[in-house]
Amino acid sequence: METQVAYDREITQELISVIARFVEEKLRPIEAQVGEDDAVPEAIINQMKELGLFGLTVPIKYGGLDLTMEVECLVAFEFGRTSPAFSSCFGTNVGIGSQGLILFGSEAQKQKYLPQIASGELVTSFCLTEAEAGSDSAAVQTRAQRVGDHYVLTGSKRYITNADRAGLFTVMARTDADVKGAKGVTAFLVERDSPGLSVGKPEKKMGQQGAHICDVYFDAVKVPVENRLGEEGAGFKLAMQVLDRGRLHIASVCVGLAERLISDSLNYALKRQQFGKPICEHQLIQAMLADSKTEAYAAKAMILDAARLKDGDQSITLEAAAAKYYASEMVGRVADRAVQILGGAGYVVDYGIERLYRDVRIFRIYEGTSQIQQIVIAREMIKAAKG
Ligand code: CAA
Repeated sequence: METQVAYDREITQELISVIARFVEEKLRPIEAQVGEDDAVPEAIINQMKELGLFGLTVPIKYGGLDLTMEVECLVAFEFGRTSPAFSSCFGTNVGIGSQGLILFGSEAQKQKYLPQIASGELVTSFCLTEAEAGSDSAAVQTRAQRVGDHYVLTGSKRYITNADRAGLFTVMARTDADVKGAKGVTAFLVERDSPGLSVGKPEKKMGQQGAHICDVYFDAVKVPVENRLGEEGAGFKLAMQVLDRGRLHIASVCVGLAERLISDSLNYALKRQQFGKPICEHQLIQAMLADSKTEAYAAKAMILDAARLKDGDQSITLEAAAAKYYASEMVGRVADRAVQILGGAGYVVDYGIERLYRDVRIFRIYEGTSQIQQIVIAREMIKAAKG
């Protein structure tokens, strides 16, 4: 593993305030437009590149900022305060699309791809999910057959974030057809322009317009052996380790969004008058505000605790699952209360709350459903108890 640079408090604070300003001044004003267009403007993506956002977690020697997990979470809290479509633009480069390469790539692979990933020139996607392998990731059917100095990939992947813009895919495929389950899965770096690789149209979704997911098809795609990530059969564990980190990132975005929804509902409740006084003076409204604040605070504390453990090189499988489970369920409740506090206005498009309400629903599903997180947490508890 590369040694990380310790950013001091002042530099971290400066980074966070630059991002907070960017979110407030450049992103929030265009949220509704991005929702309607289902696209983030290219000019904004270029500004994200200039800010170094695509390389937040890439080691410095390959052109990134090499943030610790804790600082990555602080950044994600800030990006959570606006439409998740924005952070999704660079989210796969920072997380699931690049972490396999950072954690398990060879020096040659890192030198070849990481500088372009850090600059945002190369967008990355993580191809684990398939039509018949959703929660059951070990059931991957995409085949990778070794033929001389390359592998031939055949199969398809489903709902892959940023696939329409990706230039590089981390693909989990089965190298040994006789080995069912996790042990037969291997990870590969597959370039977009490989003959036989094609990408479907972006799906129409309930929320998060501007963030795209597409299917990816592999029709006898030749991948050189040097593009295998790690050993044959190590792909499932690689994917799980990548997801441990990704889950903490998603949890952080949930907290940022919850804080945004709480602030919007509080501001509304301060102004909106009913029964002769602002509705924030009605105790049943106060109860909803207090519950949302308390739960967002609890999630934030969990995330920061888990992030510090990760920065101390400890396994966070349980903690990341718990943080993602709690934070994604929490933001669902907070969004629901926000609609309730705004009443009719919460249901009307112009107020923007209904959009965020739709946006947050997927957090309980992607990068592991709540039910999968419960399984992961319980399994880790049982494993520890058995010693
Ligand atoms: N770190 C390291 N190793 C791990 C691990 C982790 N977090 N989790 C499991 N492993 C190891 C296990 O120790 C085991 O190793 P051994 O065989 O040596 O003992 C091996 O991996 C197999 O693990 P399990 O027996 O636990 O595997 P399983 O088939 O029972 O499944 C699961 C486990 C937790 C259900 C897993 O399949 C899972 O997390 N599913 C959810 C998948 C998911 O999150 N998908 C999201 C896709 S990505 C996405 O959403 C991206 C997007 O674009 C938005």
